[in-house]
Amino acid sequence: MSQRRRTGALALAALVLLVGGCTEAGGGVRGTPGAAGLRDPLFPKLGNGGYDVGHYGLTLAYDPASGRLDGTAEITARATQDLSAFNLDLAGLTVRGATVDGAPAAYNRAGNELTIRPRDELPEGKEFKATVTYTGVPEPLTDADGSKEGWLRTAGGAVAVGEPAGSMTWFPGNHHPSDKASYDLALTVPAGLDALSNGVRTARRTEKDGRVTTVWHVPEPMASYLATVAIGRYETGTATALGSVPVLTAAEAPVAAGSAALRAEVPELLARQVKRFGPYPFSAAGALVTEDGVLDYALETQTRPIFPAGSFERTTLLHEQAHQWFGDSVTPGTWRDIWLNEGFATYAEWLYSEEYEHVPARTHFERAFAQDANWAFPPAAPPTAANLFDPPVYQRGAMVLYKLRETVGDRVFDEILRGWPAKYRHANATTDDFTAYAESVAGRDLDGLWDVWLYGDEKPSKP
Ligand code: TRP
Ligand code: ZN
Repeated sequence: MSQRRRTGALALAALVLLVGGCTEAGGGVRGTPGAAGLRDPLFPKLGNGGYDVGHYGLTLAYDPASGRLDGTAEITARATQDLSAFNLDLAGLTVRGATVDGAPAAYNRAGNELTIRPRDELPEGKEFKATVTYTGVPEPLTDADGSKEGWLRTAGGAVAVGEPAGSMTWFPGNHHPSDKASYDLALTVPAGLDALSNGVRTARRTEKDGRVTTVWHVPEPMASYLATVAIGRYETGTATALGSVPVLTAAEAPVAAGSAALRAEVPELLARQVKRFGPYPFSAAGALVTEDGVLDYALETQTRPIFPAGSFERTTLLHEQAHQWFGDSVTPGTWRDIWLNEGFATYAEWLYSEEYEHVPARTHFERAFAQDANWAFPPAAPPTAANLFDPPVYQRGAMVLYKLRETVGDRVFDEILRGWPAKYRHANATTDDFTAYAESVAGRDLDGLWDVWLYGDEKPSKP
C-alpha cells in the first residue's frame, strides 16, 4: 500500500540496465507466469495470481458525446512469486502501451485477460509499477443473471458499477474481491459536467482546453467491484457525519429535489448504524442518486453508495450503508461468501424495522421462513454465478443471523455484530472465518446451527 517517490529509483534502474544489460545474466530469477485466475468457486477466471496490488492510480478522460474513454492505469503491486509475466483483467477497449517500472513491456490480449511480460523478470517480494495506457468506448457486461454492470452510458454522461466483475470494463486490474488496494482517480470531463467517485475530493482544476479534472482519493483498501464513477449534471450537498466524516451526496439534476430530504438523512442514519456495528470504517461518506432507466439496482460503492432514483428510499439506503461495514470493510474472500454481505445488510434492515417500526426481527424471520423462494439453496453455497443475488443469499443469510441471535442471546449477538467488523476491518473474510469467530465469542460449538441454517438443503419443519 505504500506510495513512495520512485523517480530516483527509476532513473537508477534505467542506468543499471544501460550499463549492465539484462539483470538475469547475473544468475537472476527464473520466473513463471502468474495464474490467469484466482479459481474463485463461482468466477474461476476472475482476478490473477502472482502479485498483490497496493494502489491504483487511474487517470481517465471521458467524452460523453462519443462515449470514448482514454485512460492510464498505474498499478503499484508486489510480486508474490518469481514472475516472468502477469495478467490483468480488462474487457473491451484498446491497449496502447504498457510499461513495468518505466521500461516498455510486451503485452497480449485474449478474452478478458491482458498479459504483460516485463522486460526484466520480477523476483518474489519486489514492488513494481505497471502502467497501461488504453482507449475506446467501454461496453457494459451482462451478468449471468441478466443484469447489466460496468460502464453504463446515461443521457448526459455515464455511471460505473462493478459487482461482481464490471470494473474490468473501465480499468485493467486484479478484479477479484480478495485483492484490495487504495486508489487515486483523476477524471477529466467537458466543462459543465460533474465527475464524482469514491472517497475524498482532493482537487478540481480546469485544463488548458477548458475541460475540468476532478481528483478523488480513497486511502482505505477497496475491492475493485466497489469503485464507482458518476459523470453528468449533478447537484451536490455536503455535511459532516459522526463528528468528522465529510459527507458528499449528489443527485442528477432531475432527481435532485426529490432525493434531497433522504440525502440529508445520511449522517443521522450512519450514526444509528455506528451504534450497532461499531466505528464507521471510512474517511468519507455520502450517496449518489441517478435518474431511473440505466442502473436497475442500488450498489454499496465504497463510501458513496449509488442508487437509481426509484430505489432511493430509507430501507435501501440503510442496506447500502450497512454494506460499508459488511462487504466494503469486511470483504468476502470469494464470491461464494456473498451472504456475508447480503445476509448482514438484510439483517440491518430487520434491525432498523424492529427499532423504528416496531416490527420484531422474529416477524421478519418468520416471513422469510414462509417464502419458498428463500429455500432454493443454502446461503453459504450459491450454486452458480447466476444465483449470486438470489433470495436465499439475502433472506436465508439474514435468517442465519437471526437464529444465531436466538441461540446465543442478544448480548453475545450484539458483541458479534460489533466484533466481526472490528476483527476483519479493511480485510477479507470467509464463511469459515465467520463461524469460527462467532463460536469464539459464544464460547461454544455451534455446528448444529450452521448445519441446518447455513449449509442445510432442507427447510426445517418449524421456524
Ligand atoms: N449488492 C447489491 C445490493 O446492495 C445488489 C446487486 C449488485 C445486484 N449487483 C446486482 C442485484 C445484480 C441484482 C443483480 O444488494
Ligand atoms: Zn446488498
